[in-house]
Amino acid sequence: MSAPGGLEDTPQLLDELIQKCFKAKEKAYNPYSKFRVGAALLTEGGQIFTGCNVENASYGLCICAERTAICKAVSEGYRSFKAIAVSSDMTEKFISPCGNCRQFMIEFGGDYEVFLTKGDGSYQRHLVRDLLPHSFESGDLIEFQQKQQ
Ligand code: THU
Repeated sequence: MSAPGGLEDTPQLLDELIQKCFKAKEKAYNPYSKFRVGAALLTEGGQIFTGCNVENASYGLCICAERTAICKAVSEGYRSFKAIAVSSDMTEKFISPCGNCRQFMIEFGGDYEVFLTKGDGSYQRHLVRDLLPHSFESGDLIEFQQKQQ
């Protein structure tokens, strides 16, 4: 069932976002894992920023597609997001964002939508906050800082 006010209300835009996350995967720099991931992030204003995973010989430095897209948007001055779509080459399973990416997503709000796809283009819809229950967020720091004053 679609959520009122969500991206499923504008199927053409949702379709564009999903197509762009699949296209973004083609740019993956993934010599170590061979696992390609693409992301497409829709801002509240309607811009779309894409991202792919960018790996490194020092494995711990690998950056996921979702974080690439978010950093591209934020570094261009966009911080309010409506939705993010994520793709991989998996055909049997929906791609699922890693814990780091869930934390990175929630930094910019819990209420935007996350569309997790699989190879045939089908998707699961979530909200960021449903993917990261009991999250640690900026509000926690603010509460702590206020008590210090
Ligand atoms: N990866 C992503 O880009 N996003 C995810 O949601 C899961 C994992 C990347 C990181 C690494 O380059 C490769 O997939 C295998 O873990």
